[in-house]
Amino acid sequence: MARFASCDASGPLLESLVQPFTSIGHEWMLISAGTGTSRNEWNAMTASWGGFGVHWNRRTVSCVIRPTRHTFPFAEREPLLTFSFFGPEHKKALQICGSVSGRDTDKAEAAGIEPVVLEPGAVGFSQARFSLVCRKIYAQDMSPACFIDKGLDSFYELKDYHRMYICEILRCWTPAAGNDEARTAK
Ligand SMILES: Cc1cc2nc3c(=O)[nH]c(=O)nc-3n(C[C@H](O)[C@H](O)[C@H](O)COP(=O)(O)O)c2cc1C
Repeated sequence: MARFASCDASGPLLESLVQPFTSIGHEWMLISAGTGTSRNEWNAMTASWGGFGVHWNRRTVSCVIRPTRHTFPFAEREPLLTFSFFGPEHKKALQICGSVSGRDTDKAEAAGIEPVVLEPGAVGFSQARFSLVCRKIYAQDMSPACFIDKGLDSFYELKDYHRMYICEILRCWTPAAGNDEARTAK
């Protein structure tokens, strides 16, 4: 069982881990939803759109998920989402999770990632460099009527407009080093 150390969501360690543009836009993240590690209990997909920020005085991660994704019903059902960030050696795994669907593929097996349940109760991955377990606090469908730049509609050939989620960061997990104050995430 992988061991993890918890860091304070409002502390300086989180600030040092997160690079607002690079972490999401270039390195990508895995969005996962689920509370158990067997195949039908969770799903995860790669995302490169989203942001870190402050909403309603809380530290947040936002993301956008198309309703056509298999991850979508999981994200709708679960109150918690995990955002996992990996080192460059795992880019291939992220490519796989962003190009096949959990509908018909075992992503853990295909991408070589191990699901683990992180406190307070959401699936993340033992290979992640850091993982943010977050609580959904706001969701809204994107509407073409709200596109001020009408050119944005060109991203939606299938009219599957994203749903945006704003999520409050509850816990940040990093792999535990040596005998640090490590915990085994359950
Ligand atoms: C680099 C990259 C970034 C992506 N970003 C998003 C995103 O922000 N939102 C989204 O809905 N899909 C995004 N996708 C597409 C999904 O990851 C992809 O369709 C995935 O296969 C969905 O898996 P699922 O059907 O198991 O949910 C991205 C794909 C890649 C490769």
